[in-house]
Amino acid sequence: MPAQHILDLIGNTPLVEVKNLETGPCRLFLKLENQNPGGSIKDRIGKSMIEAAERDGRLKPGGTLVEATAGNTGLGLALVALLKGYKLILVVPDKMSREKIFHLKAMGVQVVLTRSDVEKGHPEYYQDMAERIAAENGGFYVNQFGNEANPLAHESSTGPEIWEQMHHDVQAVVCGVGSSGTLTGLSRYFARVSPATEMVLADPEGSVLCEYVNKGSYGQAGSWVVEGIGEDFIPPIADFSRVKAAYSISDRESCTTARELLLKEGILGGSSTGTLLAAALRYCRSQSFPKRVVSLVCDSGNKYLSKLFNDYWMRDNGFVVRPQFGDLRDVISRLHEEFATVTVAPDDKLAVAYARMKLYDVSQLPVLQGAQVVGIVDEWDLLIAVEADPASFQRPVRTAMSARLETVGLSTPIPVLMETFNKGHVAVVVDQGRFYGLITRMDVLHHLRNRAP
Ligand SMILES: Cc1ncc(COP(=O)(O)O)c(C=O)c1O
Repeated sequence: MPAQHILDLIGNTPLVEVKNLETGPCRLFLKLENQNPGGSIKDRIGKSMIEAAERDGRLKPGGTLVEATAGNTGLGLALVALLKGYKLILVVPDKMSREKIFHLKAMGVQVVLTRSDVEKGHPEYYQDMAERIAAENGGFYVNQFGNEANPLAHESSTGPEIWEQMHHDVQAVVCGVGSSGTLTGLSRYFARVSPATEMVLADPEGSVLCEYVNKGSYGQAGSWVVEGIGEDFIPPIADFSRVKAAYSISDRESCTTARELLLKEGILGGSSTGTLLAAALRYCRSQSFPKRVVSLVCDSGNKYLSKLFNDYWMRDNGFVVRPQFGDLRDVISRLHEEFATVTVAPDDKLAVAYARMKLYDVSQLPVLQGAQVVGIVDEWDLLIAVEADPASFQRPVRTAMSARLETVGLSTPIPVLMETFNKGHVAVVVDQGRFYGLITRMDVLHHLRNRAP
């Protein structure tokens, strides 16, 4: 029967068993929260926090909601707000990706950008600003970190769904913590129906939560790339009392595990799915007795295609190590011999060069005649060629490229590359007549960053 309303499709997500990863004596099941209509587990709390505010009168018809987030909670709230006719203002730190902001704006959200370099207590800190905007506009400050309807969503929906889908037989649940709604809500539910079920925390390295669970105290937070989980403080609604094991997972392990999940099981999960799965696999493999274990795919890998599912991003972040040559091949991020350099031919039209620069987001292209590099064409060359007459986009690249090439050999030391960069050029690496690729300033920065302590 067709659903009456998209909001009726929140929750009741499928559960699937992991079949091709090593789980020791255990069986591991994943709940596919990415299949909620807004694409993540946060649809559940978007609905429950709005409905709770409607019930207790904090939210009137046509009212305004304010929250501080650019993440999945913003999308979950946006979905419910647009279908129920509320205005939503989200305060978003300026480090968030443009994709997320486009997505929110397309859902009718008013996005207020604020600084991401200030801490709690500063007037421009995103949470303080959201609270102030709500007060000034008579809006409802949603505050997922302190809102009891957040854990309640998981206590009343995620938990019972898992329990039924597992036929009342589950020995451990592995989850991450952002606001802690999931962990707190599931802890409460399982404390009632199955007190022996163990809660397991999956935490990104750099977050303070794992140490807090293991030692009861914590130090300075670091940074991590996994999105949606990990914290630098203990959320007010957090209840860790039932957590029996906690694992700290590096960004590298999270990203490579998320990729393995796609490769082995065909499940496209986000970066945090990698953290949860890595912790779940460690937990499963360390058991002496068979257990039935559940974890979550909290959002979709679709949101991270240009990050962890992009081989170059993985390399640039040092998460995948390439074979090392001890020469400039270690610095070139897109090696020509791996068919990774974007090139044009001298007889291609300038329109083709323009389209490739735009598609691959590069500002210059080597011009190759067969295996020989015969020139380079950059944005400036293109602009000079077409400025007087846009019909010149039809001219061949050879008429606009710079053919006077300064090349460097494979054994050129990095300080010599600095001279090339200082002239505003990229380094064109050619050795014994063979083209190896280009090196930009950013490539050298990635190279040095990956060697930094
Ligand atoms: C992307 C993402 N967001 C949020 C959460 C859970 O967050 P919360 O603690 O706010 O319920 C998870 C948990 O794994 C997650 O992976």
